[in-house]
Amino acid sequence: MNIHEALDWRYAVREFSADKLDNQTVETLVDATRKSPSSYGLQPYKILVLESRAVRRDLLAYSFGQQKVLDCSHLIVFAAQTAIGDHTVDRYVTRFVKDRGVPADDISGYVKHMKEALAAKSLAEKQAWAHQQAYIALGTLLTAAALMRIDSCPMTGFDHKAYDEVLGLPARGLESSAIVALGYRSDRDRTAGLQKVRFDYDELVVRM
Ligand SMILES: Cc1cc2nc3c(=O)[nH]c(=O)nc-3n(C[C@H](O)[C@H](O)[C@H](O)COP(=O)(O)O)c2cc1C
Repeated sequence: MNIHEALDWRYAVREFSADKLDNQTVETLVDATRKSPSSYGLQPYKILVLESRAVRRDLLAYSFGQQKVLDCSHLIVFAAQTAIGDHTVDRYVTRFVKDRGVPADDISGYVKHMKEALAAKSLAEKQAWAHQQAYIALGTLLTAAALMRIDSCPMTGFDHKAYDEVLGLPARGLESSAIVALGYRSDRDRTAGLQKVRFDYDELVVRM
C-alpha cells in the first residue's frame, strides 16, 4: 500500500468494533511514534497507552459522549510536560552523549543555545511549545497506523482537566494534549464510506 492509498483509507473512526489489537501491533505503533521529530529533539511529552477498560470507563464521563474512548482497543494519551527549563535540556544532553558517544563539552555551545531559547519563552509559550511537539507525535501515530491498516481517531473533544486528574498527570508533571483511539472500525460505522473533505492542492499549497 502506498502512502496515498493509506491516507485515503484512514478516516476519523466514529464507531469501533470489539476486536482488540494484539500487543505486538500496539508496540510497533507506539515505538514508531517514539521516533517522531521534535524541536531540538527534546521530546517534552509522554505517551500513555491505556488498555484498561476500568480506567477508560472513568474517562468516558469526561469524553463529551465519545463512546469510542471505551469501545476502541487502546487509547493513547499524549501528555505535555508542564515544567520546561534547563533540566529539559540536561536530560536530553545525557541521552545525546550516550547515543552519539561524544563528550558533553563538544556540544556545550548548542546546549547554551537551547537553554537560552527556552528561557526566552514565557510560561504560556513553553506550554504551547510542548503541546506542539506532542501534536507532531500524534501525526506520526496516525500515519503509522494508516500504513499498518490500523484504525484510529484523534480527539481533543474531552475535558482536559478531568482527564489529567483521573490519570494522575499533575503528579507526573504532565497535562493532556490530545488522545488517539486505536482499533478496528465497526461494520456499522456509517462514516467509513464518506467522501474525504480536503481543500484542493492548489488551494492549500503555495509554490514559490
Ligand atoms: C487535533 C484533532 C482533534 C480532533 N478531535 C476530534 C474529536 O474530539 N472527535 C472526533 O470524532 N474527531 C476528532 N477529530 C477528527 C477530525 O474531525 C477529522 O480528522 C477531520 O474531520 C478530517 O476527517 P478525516 O480524518 O476522517 O479524514 C480531531 C482531529 C484532530 C487532528
